[in-house]
Amino acid sequence: MATILAIETSCDETAVALVKNRQVLSSIVSSQIDLHSIYGGVVPELASRQHLESINFCLAEAIAKANLAWQDIDAIASTCAPGLVGALLVGSTTAKTLSLVHDKPFLGVHHLEGHIYASYLSEPDLQPPFLTLLVSGGHTSIIHVKDCGEYEMLGTTRDDAAGEAFDKVARLLKLGYPGGPIIDKLAKEGNPKAFQLPEGRISLPEGGYHPYDTSFSGLKTAVLRLTQQLESQGDIPVADVAASFQNTVAKVLTKRTIKCALDYGLTTITVGGGVAANSELRSQLTAAATAQNLQVHFPPLKFCTDNAAMIGCAASEHYDLGHVSDLMLKVRSRMPIKDVMELYS
Ligand SMILES: Nc1ncnc2c1ncn2[C@@H]1O[C@H](COP(=O)(O)OP(=O)(O)OP(=O)(O)O)[C@@H](O)[C@H]1O
Ligand SMILES: [Mg+2]
Repeated sequence: MATILAIETSCDETAVALVKNRQVLSSIVSSQIDLHSIYGGVVPELASRQHLESINFCLAEAIAKANLAWQDIDAIASTCAPGLVGALLVGSTTAKTLSLVHDKPFLGVHHLEGHIYASYLSEPDLQPPFLTLLVSGGHTSIIHVKDCGEYEMLGTTRDDAAGEAFDKVARLLKLGYPGGPIIDKLAKEGNPKAFQLPEGRISLPEGGYHPYDTSFSGLKTAVLRLTQQLESQGDIPVADVAASFQNTVAKVLTKRTIKCALDYGLTTITVGGGVAANSELRSQLTAAATAQNLQVHFPPLKFCTDNAAMIGCAASEHYDLGHVSDLMLKVRSRMPIKDVMELYS
């Protein structure tokens, strides 16, 4: 029942949270979306500088909202991999300093483990083994969560991540950034069956298709061609295009995940990452899982995209197992999830 102070600064959100036993005592997220949106993507140097500007304010707010004193906090955690190095350094240096000053253990956390454990925030009794569909701005992965710290990647994307596909399609439809929430909203007014789009299956050299891998670049190109063709004929029915694209992404992710769960005999599925907020994915995956007698859990909506509560949740699982990180731990821009135990000494 540890109380963890957690910091997340791996990309363009400065976030601090206090988490106790899968309960969020406070969660502050300061987004840099406005800062980067004029460039159409995250500018690493600007991100690090903005984290420096925001981190102390977020810390103070999180501690005040939770109404805790330092002696109530058991450990301090921060995302240490993967992510933008300069951005990760701001959060990890802050966490290490607090850990030294207040004499608390420090835990470095793998960002994707945070997305995996976000579902714990809505499911107090959930325990591995289970299958996680991780769909975010940078990842589309199907992960077998065998135990805390023990992961096997069963499926991945060969090109664009699911969130990236939403962002790119929104850009070509001139809808703004980030594209996921905008397309999700607009698709409600459109016909998801208006246009037939490719599912992006990966051929295997021995014949047939990879059962769990995805590819979204062909789908994105198909949307581009479709909009060019529609434009030449008159107005683009943007809501229909958005709904058809979203329906295809949800269908692909649902098929792959359900097949993987059945093949591996896993009866519980969790979903994490920004695209876990998508309403069509939520409804298609829930319906398909129910039809197969499988359980599916999604994080609360506000903990799908980057936040520190999910980092606190992951750290809490490691803390309970006695895992602690060295204060000399270096941040890493890349780190496969299977190597996560390298963060602990
Ligand atoms: N309702 C939604 N439907 C679809 N996509 C969404 C929705 N809400 C957010 N997204 C997408 O989620 C992505 C952001 O998610 P997240 O914050 O988890 O990614 P990230 O942290 O940038 O990537 P990673 O965790 O892989 O490093 C964006 O691409 C955004 O468009
Ligand atoms: Mg993320």
